[in-house]
Amino acid sequence: MYIDIAKEKFNKLKKEYKSRDILVLGIESSCDETSIAVVRNGREILSNVIATQIEIHARFGGVVPEVASRNHLLAIDSVLDEALSLAGVTLDDIDAIAVTYGAGLVGALMVGVSYAKALAFATGLPLIAVNHIKGHISANYLTHKDLEPPFVALIVSGGHTALVKVNNYVKNTLLGSTIDDAVGECYDKVAKVLGLGYPGGIAIDKHASSGTNNLPFIKHEIMPKTFDFSFSGVKTAIVNYVHKLNQNGEPVPVDDICASMQEQVVEELVRKSISACKKYHEKKLVVGGGVSANSRLRERLLAEGQKNKIQVYFPEMKLTGDNGAMIASEGYFQLISGESLADMDLTAEPNINLKWVRREQKL
Ligand code: KG4
Ligand code: ZN
Repeated sequence: MYIDIAKEKFNKLKKEYKSRDILVLGIESSCDETSIAVVRNGREILSNVIATQIEIHARFGGVVPEVASRNHLLAIDSVLDEALSLAGVTLDDIDAIAVTYGAGLVGALMVGVSYAKALAFATGLPLIAVNHIKGHISANYLTHKDLEPPFVALIVSGGHTALVKVNNYVKNTLLGSTIDDAVGECYDKVAKVLGLGYPGGIAIDKHASSGTNNLPFIKHEIMPKTFDFSFSGVKTAIVNYVHKLNQNGEPVPVDDICASMQEQVVEELVRKSISACKKYHEKKLVVGGGVSANSRLRERLLAEGQKNKIQVYFPEMKLTGDNGAMIASEGYFQLISGESLADMDLTAEPNINLKWVRREQKL
């Protein structure tokens, strides 16, 4: 039986990891990046191959799920070959396989999950199911070699916005999350209406630097008494504003819209992140997800962090987006923390969201 062989290897690893290097293969296919990486001891990237489909989806103005799945299938074999060869290893050197099983697009996730299961079955290697959102936090363990929990984490991606208290490598508490759009989704939708293409985050970030924050899209603090977020209001306000200008044949002040949106959205994220650190007496704030690449978010969090004596951590730029290395890192920490192994019945869970953490009290 596969699981018996995998368990035996897993139990051996639990004894050995302190005395020898452990190599984890990380597989990520939740959205529009097919990525496989080899990571040593959860901290050191030996290879991190990312085949992005951004150009394929850009012409549709967003990710087309069926197209994404097909392209993952086309790419995954060569991504694995390249990841192993760049790391200078073969499958025989790998100790465990970690794979994103949620959240994400079901068809896209299925490609990575099926591939990982086939590899695990063929090799007898332990299979570890990784939550993509936790992976974004772990990108920081790769960037900051001494970073250890506990800390507060702000996750800002295309699919999620959340504040989490990370108690140890595997236990977390959800403090708050978006009740509607994720912050990255808001960036992408506003970029679309402004004709800035997909994905929109980088484009808005760039235009914002030439604009002025002179359009009050967020007029009051949003859900001020909680750690939850809401971004659909600001998105709708901007979309309506642009449509109205277009209908009246008036010029659209793209740079000012970008600067206003960015400044106001970033302030929401900064305010809640800093108050979460204060409330839980945490001196470390860790940021993860695609939007952690945002220049203004970095600037403002670092400034507020310094003011409040909170050390703020960001992943290095190349690890802000989706990648296999963060999945391998997260998988490693699950492995050494004795989390249970996945079996051949592992399946994609597109809506896993933040079920893995318990919701805690209000601000
Ligand atoms: O984490 P990620 O690669 O994928 C998901 O897990 O969703 O995040 C992608 C999101 C997109 O919405 C993209 O527009 C946004 O990250 N993003 C940015 C920036 N770079 C990427 N948002 C704001 N500013 C940026 N510089
Ligand atoms: Zn992501």
